[in-house]
Amino acid sequence: MTLRFSRTILAATAAFALSSAALHAEMADDELNINGDTPITVKAPAASHLEGHLDEVYSGWLFRTDDTRAMEQDDFDNPIMIFAEKGMDNWSVADGSEGKSCADCHGDISEGMKGVRATMPKLNAKGELWSMEDYINDCRTNRMGAEAWGWDSGPMHNMTVAISVQSRGMPVNVTIDGDAAPFWEKGKEMYYTRYGQLELSCASCHEENYGNFIRADHLSQGQIQAFPVYRLKNAGVVSIHNRFKGCIRDTRAETFGVGSPEFHALELYVASRGMGLDIEGGGVRP
Ligand code: HEC
Ligand code: HEC
Repeated sequence: MTLRFSRTILAATAAFALSSAALHAEMADDELNINGDTPITVKAPAASHLEGHLDEVYSGWLFRTDDTRAMEQDDFDNPIMIFAEKGMDNWSVADGSEGKSCADCHGDISEGMKGVRATMPKLNAKGELWSMEDYINDCRTNRMGAEAWGWDSGPMHNMTVAISVQSRGMPVNVTIDGDAAPFWEKGKEMYYTRYGQLELSCASCHEENYGNFIRADHLSQGQIQAFPVYRLKNAGVVSIHNRFKGCIRDTRAETFGVGSPEFHALELYVASRGMGLDIEGGGVRP
């Protein structure tokens, strides 16, 4: 069998699996209200830039089972809160040669970091597109004299979760025009590019087939406003870039690295597809 031939078969199999109408299921008709006091918009009219692509946008939460959705309704049941608490504890611990903690400069996390997650990723003063992880490491290395944390390290996960919780219930608020526009365009192009042996783009699954099943997974729109999420499968926190990596790998393509320029651009574009939805600050996923 030639390589070209096997590729064609794989692509045909994937297309068949995705177009099989029998495997469609309605998403949940449910409302998210964390602890009964923080209502979260999980369904909204799509932003104007999505015209012709999507009419409404939906949180991935709506595509999960009753049990998984219930875990996100209450912080006592949401396993990500253990990580959030560790991040909040670390907020006031001095580290590095300057002997400073995050709290020394930013004050209480609930005030200093309110709304920050909703604006990420965004341009820094030099015009580079930065994710929350970059901002945190910039403070650690350049302001605290401490070592950078790995993108998917424990302390980074804990801190990004702790900061994201402070934006719960606030609408996605990314800037996509002006100097951010070229990054957004690059991310958009990636979103519609077919990757790997399966020749599938993000849109093949998350725009054309959300609501359908792929193997045991009920496909969502692949939104990121709930990230970082707790994945039951890994029993741990998963970052946005790590999720992108997994999805590209599933198309049997060489994937980009966490923190790569490609994933920064893709993050901005995917974030903008969630405009209208609220930040969940620690979703729970299978
Ligand atoms: C010495 C003071 C200082 C320390 C210590 C510090 N930061 Fe910062 N941080 C800043 C300044 C200044 C900015 C830039 C603010 C701006 O330009 O808007 C910033 C920006 C940020 C941002 C981006 C905020 C935004 O709205 O764009 C995040 C996130 C952040 N810091 C997290 C942290 C974390 C987490 C720690 C501890 C690990 C920390 N910082 C420690 C001073 C500090
Ligand atoms: C072969 C189909 C497929 C492709 C192609 C694909 N994904 Fe996914 N993706 C999935 C499945 C399955 C899940 C888990 C169920 C769900 O939330 O859709 C998922 C989940 C996600 C999630 C988590 C959503 C949530 O709320 O937990 C994000 C974000 C995501 N994908 C982004 C992307 C991006 C960006 C691309 C393109 C680089 C992409 N995916 C390509 C199948 C795919």
